[in-house]
Amino acid sequence: MFTFAQISDFHISAPDGTANSMYRTRRHLEVAVEHLNNLVPRPEFVLCTGDLVDGGGADQYAVLAGVLKQLQMPFYLIPGNHDDRDGIRRHFPEHGYLMEMAGSDGFIQYTLEDWGPRFIALDTLVPGQTGGRLCQTRLGWLDDRLGDQPDRPTIIFMHHPPFRTGLARMDLKGLEDGAALAEILRRHDNIEAVLAGHLHRYITHRFAGTIAVTAPATAHQIALDLDDPDSLRVIMEPPGGLLHVWFGGDDGLVSHQIYTGGGYGDHLIFANGAYHPKGTPPGPAIAL
Ligand SMILES: [Fe+2]
Ligand SMILES: [Fe+2]
Repeated sequence: MFTFAQISDFHISAPDGTANSMYRTRRHLEVAVEHLNNLVPRPEFVLCTGDLVDGGGADQYAVLAGVLKQLQMPFYLIPGNHDDRDGIRRHFPEHGYLMEMAGSDGFIQYTLEDWGPRFIALDTLVPGQTGGRLCQTRLGWLDDRLGDQPDRPTIIFMHHPPFRTGLARMDLKGLEDGAALAEILRRHDNIEAVLAGHLHRYITHRFAGTIAVTAPATAHQIALDLDDPDSLRVIMEPPGGLLHVWFGGDDGLVSHQIYTGGGYGDHLIFANGAYHPKGTPPGPAIAL
């Protein structure tokens, strides 16, 4: 048995950038890193499932690298729609796996082979677009990798979830070719899970004969407004991630939602755009 963590959608911005000013994204990631370092047992590694920064800028990746280097275990990166592949590669030069598919349109896809189950990272980024796509090149690469080791338990991770969630505005900007991915995965019975981000919520779904799950974000969440197709509301619910337990055999993979920090009343309170550190009086009531 071993555990590994998944954290997602850090949206690191420059200190005075929008995401950091409104949601304190850097501080939230620092808290998440500290939380993971203190878990017992300590996760063997951490998957970071995209939207690592908010705007793809070099200054943002420099901040990101400074925070993530505090992790006391290996971590693995994939891009989200807010990311820039070259920016990731430039700021994490010691992460050789980022180059595994670099010759093919620069995609960041790779496999992790050092654990009991095999991990396959997929890149759903389409530069300049909110929604994601895998395209023939990336899907073909996945098909080949799955063919390499058809009997080994395999966990796939990617930014955009390949399923409809009910959050209409997010679904409109979802993964374009989820059906093509499903067609490939359905041919295999060794896919333990598909781990995703992008939705800033914990959601699960039966997908192509396996389990697909999205991780909550380390800072701001997306409100569960299922009755309003025009709504896309950010809410400071407690930040978190997922802690995955690998048992193997019939017990396979078990995924737990974890909270990496308090929400409304613990270490940060969000009130009318103002943050109040723990111990200071809360601001006026906020209508969410
Ligand atoms: Fe995000
Ligand atoms: Fe995203």
